[in-house]
Amino acid sequence: MTQPALRPDVLLNVMPDVLIIGGGLMALATALELRLRGASVTVLSRDRTEAAAYAAAGMLAPQAEGLEPGPMLELCLRSRALYPDWTAKLESLTGLDSGYWPCGILRPAFADTPPPPELQNRDCRVEWLEGEALEQRQAGLGAEVVGAWWFPEDAQVDNRRRLVPALAAAVDQSGVIWREGVEVIKIHQCQGEVTALETNDLETNKQIYQAGHYLLAAGAWTGGLLEAAPVTPRKGQLMALRPALGVESEIGMPLGQVLFGDRIYIVPRQDGLIVLGATSEQVDFQPGNTAAGIHQLLTEAIRLCPALGHYEIAETWWGFRPETADELPILGPSPLANLSLASGHYRNGVLLAPITAQILADWILEGKAAPLLQAFQWERLGL
Ligand code: GLY
Repeated sequence: MTQPALRPDVLLNVMPDVLIIGGGLMALATALELRLRGASVTVLSRDRTEAAAYAAAGMLAPQAEGLEPGPMLELCLRSRALYPDWTAKLESLTGLDSGYWPCGILRPAFADTPPPPELQNRDCRVEWLEGEALEQRQAGLGAEVVGAWWFPEDAQVDNRRRLVPALAAAVDQSGVIWREGVEVIKIHQCQGEVTALETNDLETNKQIYQAGHYLLAAGAWTGGLLEAAPVTPRKGQLMALRPALGVESEIGMPLGQVLFGDRIYIVPRQDGLIVLGATSEQVDFQPGNTAAGIHQLLTEAIRLCPALGHYEIAETWWGFRPETADELPILGPSPLANLSLASGHYRNGVLLAPITAQILADWILEGKAAPLLQAFQWERLGL
């Protein structure tokens, strides 16, 4: 791999090849990819901890999510296939663990569960388990569970504690200029092109930023900056549990894979922490955890895995998924010739980071439009 030659201090006052708006996974993953391919890149991020990357549970679940066959499933499967190499690259660049764990996902069914998702892709492995076979895969499931779909190729990544820090370190080390705390207030345009980004950046006395090309990857806040990219927030509440002394013996065996229920998913980390997610609420940017949200997570989690009732509550948090009207991302060109889009990844942002970075770098640097990009154009949303 060619090492980027330009130093951050040299780049600070120079117009970069690409300016990226956003500090979440799409912004950082694409920034790194562009930089490693030789481009000079500046990232403007208002508050990276607000990104959906921090809220998510980190499931890599194209199969368990029950996506319909079509471009979105294909995009998700391709990204899942990139994960081992992408995370290995982050690890070798930084020496940090990425928290990638190809643990598989079990999708349990209750007697009243609607029929399981179609088997979307014949190339993917899937198995229906019940009785002894299910008990062997995962002991301790609730008495109402009648069986489960097993998706051995689905996986997870410890997004909050491992992946985002590793990616951020890789971005820092790569020579990307990362201006944290800088909010883009307005995208100035003239004759179908971006002319400049206006920001609140007083620190460097540089409120106007310009570049050769711009990438809008501002997650749930994207729609506020560009009307043609109508992305809105969909709130999710999450929490983490940790085993109290002696509890794991009641489960029979520690959770060895993700459990994906109808209104809950249970994501065990390798160090014993268990993440529960997530509510799905249309409440604009209303912050905070609510009693009803936490009640839903705990009720559904305990129904699926009763021993979790004895666990301790470690943490609660929330975040905002970037949603579009058809729940598909907006990728590639925009109505402005020198602005590209990478937003609206909704429930699958963690999963889609590597493929988004690859497709956007191909598009921005080489003008190469992957055939798959067609399904994710901004025009489809009718603006
Ligand atoms: N990826 C699952 C969710 O957004 O809740």
